[in-house]
Amino acid sequence: MSRAAVLAGVGAWLPETVVTNDELARHLDTTDAWIRTRTGIRRRRVIGPGESTGSLAVEAGRRALKSAGTDEAGVVVVATSTPDRPCPATAPEVASRLGLTGVSAFDIAAVCTGFVYALGTAAALITSDTTDSVLVIGADAFSTILDPEDRTTRAVFGDGAGAVLLRSGEPGEPGALGGLHLGSDGTRSELIEVPAGGSRQRASGVPAAEAGPYFAMRGKAVFSEAVRKMADAVEATAHSLGWAPGDIDRFVLHQANARILAAVADRMGMPAERFVSNIEDVGNTVAASIPLALADGVADGALRAGQHTVLAGFGGGLTWGAVGLVWPDVTPV
Ligand code: COA
Repeated sequence: MSRAAVLAGVGAWLPETVVTNDELARHLDTTDAWIRTRTGIRRRRVIGPGESTGSLAVEAGRRALKSAGTDEAGVVVVATSTPDRPCPATAPEVASRLGLTGVSAFDIAAVCTGFVYALGTAAALITSDTTDSVLVIGADAFSTILDPEDRTTRAVFGDGAGAVLLRSGEPGEPGALGGLHLGSDGTRSELIEVPAGGSRQRASGVPAAEAGPYFAMRGKAVFSEAVRKMADAVEATAHSLGWAPGDIDRFVLHQANARILAAVADRMGMPAERFVSNIEDVGNTVAASIPLALADGVADGALRAGQHTVLAGFGGGLTWGAVGLVWPDVTPV
C-alpha cells in the first residue's frame, strides 16, 4: 500500500437545548440518581425546531475542515441512522451547505458503529487513489425517534454531531489509520431496532403505529455484547498494528454507558483513566459519539500528539468495529 488515510482535523457540534436528568424525572418514572449510577449520564442535548441531523452535521463538518486548515474535501460521508428524510441520503445536502456541491456524498447506516464503518470506507477511498480527502461526519438526532414514555431510552440517548477530515499521507506517519476491524451479526438485529418505517412493515400494510414507530432496545443483552465485542475489536486492532494492549495510551470507545466503558477496561485489565469519556454531558449520541469524544478529548487535553489511540464502536445490526492511529498534532476548533 503506497499511501494511507491520515486524520488531519476534528470538529463537533451540539444543539443548544440541554435536558437534565431532573427534567426527565419531571415527566417520567425515574430519578437523577438512577440515571447517574446506571449510566454515568447527567445531561444530554436535543434538537429544537429548525434543527436536524443534517444541520448538526454541517456545523461539525465545518469545524473539522477548519481544524484541518482547508475548505475542501473530495468526498463527504455522513454516518447516521436518523437521516433528515428516509430518502434521499443526508450527505449530498450537507456537502452542498458546506460549499462542496459536485463531490461524491453518501450516508452509511450502522447505528452506533456508523462512524467506524464510515472511517473504514473513507480510508479505502483514499488508499485506492479514488480521492485525496474525505470529510467523515457522524451525526444523529435520536430524540426524534424515541418513545416519549420510554424512561430507559430517554435517559440514555442525546443528539449531536462530530467529524474528522481524512487526507492522503504516508503509512506510519502520525494520524495514519491502521488495523481496521469491522464485523456484524444480523441474527440479532432485533436487539436494537425501529420496527416501523421500512419496506418490511410498509409492504405488509401494517400501520406504523401498530408495528412500532419508536426506537426499541433490549438494554441488558446489548450491554454484555457491547463489552465483549468492543474489547475483542480493540485487541484485534492492536494486534494488527503490532501493539500490545498495554501499549494503548487512549481508548476512544462508543459512549454507550459509563459502566460499559468501565467493564471494557476491567475485561482488558486497563486503567480507566486511559478511556476518554464525555458521556456525562452528552449521553449516547449514536454515530456522533466517537468523533464528539475525539473533539472533546483534543479540547480538554485528554488526547495528545504521539499517543497510541484505538477507536471502537458497537451498535445495532448488530455491528462493531475498531481502528487505530498514533494521535496526530490536531488543532482544536
Ligand atoms: N429510571 C428508573 N428505572 C429504570 C430506568 C430509568 N430511567 N430505566 C430502566 N429502569 C428499570 C427497569 O424498568 C428495570 O425495572 P424492573 O427490574 O422492575 O423490570 C430496572 O430498572 C433494571 O433494568 P435493566 O434494563 O436491567 O437495567 P440496566 O442496569 O441494564 O440498565 C441500560 C439499563 C439501558 C442503562 C443498560 O442496559 C444499557 O446501558 N445498555 C446498553 C445500552 C446501549 O448502549 N445501547 C445502544 C447501543 S450500543
